[in-house]
Amino acid sequence: MLKGKFVVLGVTGSIAAYKAVELVRLLKKAGCEVQVIMTKSGCEFVKPLTFQVVSQNPVIIDMFKEPSRWEVEHVALADKADVFLVAPATANIIAKMAAGIADDMLTSTLLATKAKIIVVPAMNVNMYENPITQRNIAALKALGITVLDPEEGDLACGYSGKGRFPEPTDIVEHIKVILGKDGDLKDKRFLITAGPTREPIDPVRFITNHSSGKMGYALAEKAVQRGARVTLISGPTNLTPPLGLERFIRVDTAEEMYSAVMKHYADVDVVIKSAAVADYAPKNIKGEKIKKQDSNMTLELKKNPDILQELGNKKSNQVLIGFAAETNNTIVNAQDKLKRKNLDFIVLNDLTEAGAGFAKDTNIVTILHSDGRIEKLPKMLKRDLADEILNRVLLYLQNRMS
Ligand code: C5P
Repeated sequence: MLKGKFVVLGVTGSIAAYKAVELVRLLKKAGCEVQVIMTKSGCEFVKPLTFQVVSQNPVIIDMFKEPSRWEVEHVALADKADVFLVAPATANIIAKMAAGIADDMLTSTLLATKAKIIVVPAMNVNMYENPITQRNIAALKALGITVLDPEEGDLACGYSGKGRFPEPTDIVEHIKVILGKDGDLKDKRFLITAGPTREPIDPVRFITNHSSGKMGYALAEKAVQRGARVTLISGPTNLTPPLGLERFIRVDTAEEMYSAVMKHYADVDVVIKSAAVADYAPKNIKGEKIKKQDSNMTLELKKNPDILQELGNKKSNQVLIGFAAETNNTIVNAQDKLKRKNLDFIVLNDLTEAGAGFAKDTNIVTILHSDGRIEKLPKMLKRDLADEILNRVLLYLQNRMS
């Protein structure tokens, strides 16, 4: 999604300037055109030549000493930018931006741009926490400029605290979210469930399903990056929730997932139920650890609510998508679920196929539509499959509206 985007990167006088080199490399790798503008103090930390080589573009520093065409270049560049990053941003540039000062190439271009601006502060913790800096950051935010939070940790100045430059990979994810705001799913409200549920037997044991949550998290991430407003309801996983979610709700049991889904269902346009919900839970949860005995033991299970079934019964105008993981009679079972749960389409994992199913990064699925169409998709990364699924959701949304 970053392919072909024009990124202007302002580098200012912070020791973290060297980390911006990696940021440029990542942006180039993602297919962006990158134009670096450095302040004079930025050049004290990293030579412009370094940025010139990684960005494959001449670096702009001085408004007047460059070839004459740069004199109007600040306006041209300002217009051309899809996104304008200031990374690292010192307290000084933040103050100048907040005051509207334009006394060098970077500040002049910033003032002339209508592109989305992302500021990545990196400085000494005391400078960052200074009420003047905080006031300036608040002023930028109030104007719609994105200012990322610095990370906590050891700082180059010897202090420890908030002020570190975030990981360049995280900055790239932020750019995707911000650029995606006008995407093809703009403002569509999604509810996505992911991961397994965990049904306690006693304080130390539980019943669960195999599920890494990767598919649901990939769907949430991609939906956000296409402009959707996403609520992700997740069972226990090892994954970090994607950036830019409207809401992240962490649950354990199917009952908790049920309550969370029901609470938000009425407010959404699309529900994607990719969670592997346990169908049964222990009937009586023991308050104390069950002791081992010589004989076998029997565990009585009660049926959990079928969340998707209930959503299907309630469905009005929503697009409703389910997942099915099957080991036998796969198509017939999935078709049955599709009808029974009143879904628009169901994504079928055939667990007997190599490269499909839990924990892996790839998946092989068949999509069964309510109108009878059956699409078998090739093996692909879950992140790419997420986009394929969202492309189909978009068609259903468009059909609803027309
Ligand atoms: O019927 P089955 O459980 O195989 O259906 C799978 C689909 O139903 C998945 O989308 C899953 O998230 C959803 N489901 C649910 N509530 C349950 C069980 C499954 O929403 N209790």
